[in-house]
Amino acid sequence: MKTLGKILGGIVLVCLMILASIFVFSTQKLNSRIEYSDASPPIPSDSASIEKGRHLATAIAKCVDCHGADLGGQVMIDGLPMARVIAPNLTSGEGGIGAARTDDDFLRAIRHGIAPTGRALAIMPSRAYWHMGDDDVGALVAYLRKVPPVNRELPAQSWGLVGRVLLLKGDLDDMFEAKAMDHVARRSAPPAADTTADYGRYLAEIGGCTSCHGATLSGGPIPGAPPDMKPAANITPEGIGSWTEADFFKALREGMRPNGIAIDTLSMPIPMTRLMTDLETRALYLYLKTVPPKAAGGR
Ligand code: HEC
Ligand code: HEC
Repeated sequence: MKTLGKILGGIVLVCLMILASIFVFSTQKLNSRIEYSDASPPIPSDSASIEKGRHLATAIAKCVDCHGADLGGQVMIDGLPMARVIAPNLTSGEGGIGAARTDDDFLRAIRHGIAPTGRALAIMPSRAYWHMGDDDVGALVAYLRKVPPVNRELPAQSWGLVGRVLLLKGDLDDMFEAKAMDHVARRSAPPAADTTADYGRYLAEIGGCTSCHGATLSGGPIPGAPPDMKPAANITPEGIGSWTEADFFKALREGMRPNGIAIDTLSMPIPMTRLMTDLETRALYLYLKTVPPKAAGGR
């Protein structure tokens, strides 16, 4: 009896030690500090810049897609014992982070995906926002400062046992873009806002077309996307090369393809692309004409 007790006690002890190490090492991985270096562009306060910031947050960079239409935040993944991931309330209302964050905190989160503590933010698409020019990111922060306060308390981010094991296996690395980014490289100044393919490329980068459709824009399954999300379409000339400019406008504004089949607006953010100006939409169309044609799914 005594020996059996000892064996059982030993097994329990080993299990507890394994659990404790999973907890300790995954916490270490989640909190590991990322170094970065960047300029602190001036934050404007004129109304034209704030309006530009609002347009960037909605139509272009689609912050509202995750942080909510009022930027008051929402639960992104409610999947414990995997994980619960929150897109925080960015306003200065109750439960919001706006009042506590400096301009540099905002800039670091947007262009680098790094939290004030130095840890990588989950899901923040900063590989796209890294390209954002100083004027644009300045206007965006100016707008965030002016957005009406929303009182919304959200639960904290939390990682369950399953999520922690997957984290340690490296299966969730795609969720933390900051970990695989070059935080020291210098970005070139963005092209002038004009009806050019060059400006279209800039919009495709900061607008997340490349985040979902892949660096080559040839589409395929979106890494880390929820299961009900459709694979991204091939938007290189191989996929949409026969589309006229009018077809492209109809797709991005009404979510309708030339063949009459609707684009799934839960997977493709039509509510936001619809808000792009004529100039922006035209520039994107011109740019997509210039990218190398590629078979679908190559990303
Ligand atoms: C695809 C979803 C998604 C999009 C789009 C997105 N965010 Fe986030 N963002 C998140 C999530 C999730 C977090 C919290 C991550 C964490 O805490 O690990 C976050 C965190 C942040 C933080 C850091 C908060 C803090 O604690 O300091 C800021 C600031 C922020 N986002 C601003 C923005 C802005 C501005 C945009 C648009 C330019 C944007 N986000 C677009 C998902 C998103
Ligand atoms: C959040 C991910 C996401 C972002 C960001 C995104 N797309 Fe999409 N897009 C998709 C998905 C997924 C589909 C396929 C939808 C379907 O199958 O109905 C799609 C479909 C499309 C289509 C229809 C193509 C076809 O042949 O059916 C076009 C055009 C398109 N996207 C262009 C863009 C452009 C331009 C941008 C950047 C401004 C962009 N998308 C940003 C996910 C995204």
